[in-house]
Amino acid sequence: MATTSFEEQFDKRLAQDQTIEPKDWMPDNYRKTLIRQISQHAHSEVVGMLPEGNWVTRAPSLRRKAVLLAKIQDEGGHGLYLYSAAETLGVTRDELYDQLHTGKAKYSSIFNYPSLTWADMGAIGWLVDGAAIMNQVPLCRTSYGPYARAMVRVCKEESFHQRQGFEIMNTLAKGTEIQKKMAQDALNRWWWPSLMMFGPHDADSPNTEQSVKWRIKRMTNDELRQKFIDVTVEQTKVLGLEVPDKDLKWNAERGHYDVGPINWDEFKNVVAGNGPCNKERLDARRKAWDEGKWVRDAAMAYATKRKARANQATQAA
Ligand SMILES: [Fe+2]
Ligand SMILES: [Fe+2]
Repeated sequence: MATTSFEEQFDKRLAQDQTIEPKDWMPDNYRKTLIRQISQHAHSEVVGMLPEGNWVTRAPSLRRKAVLLAKIQDEGGHGLYLYSAAETLGVTRDELYDQLHTGKAKYSSIFNYPSLTWADMGAIGWLVDGAAIMNQVPLCRTSYGPYARAMVRVCKEESFHQRQGFEIMNTLAKGTEIQKKMAQDALNRWWWPSLMMFGPHDADSPNTEQSVKWRIKRMTNDELRQKFIDVTVEQTKVLGLEVPDKDLKWNAERGHYDVGPINWDEFKNVVAGNGPCNKERLDARRKAWDEGKWVRDAAMAYATKRKARANQATQAA
């Protein structure tokens, strides 16, 4: 009888577009790549709550405040689904938090920029959540089952985030001269970092090829970035604002917009920890961890007590 090796079975499942589940055999590097990608994604969700949290108390109306709060809570929820998905790969929540707090793990560099005005709440929802959707929709079909399923729900919520951001931008852009200026200024500051969210160009992204082969990634960085640019430039026209790129032009031959060069030195610098808010963001996460210690201790003490009580009850029976 012919036997198939674990690796052959794994390859066969990928070829048939079946998902890989936690108990299935998988290559070590597949597991490692996923732990890195899913945990980076989870960290980005929770760190991403910080720039917007900055505006909850200053939202211009009760409606805006309620919507912004709901959006930020969604991001916390996304972090939780994703940490759970990462845990199915054999890493613990404590290890993941530790990697974030010690600076060993990365999160999306866009959250190291400050949110200076209310218009930034518009630009973040519209551009940052918009870029996140472009990245995440193909991940609903990623090969690792728990990650793919988490993404389905996350994507539904992200579309609401993108629309609430666009609505803020639209209100400001159609408002007074000062409001319009504020919207344009936010677009100017968030445009380039949003394009950087898709990561380095394919030629400079050594992990892309393997990730596409494993069907962890379904589209390359440049393909996703181009899709984002094509959609967003049209939306900018609807807003009556201007994309801050003098080289931006429609390329009829390619059927896509061409953009000017992205400043990768800035990207590398922010990723290396030198962005305007890196320190502030990590300090905030560490502080939340330290201040939450009593809650974790209380929950553990309660769990131990309950277990002891349940044991006593079984012994008595
Ligand atoms: Fe999210
Ligand atoms: Fe979001």
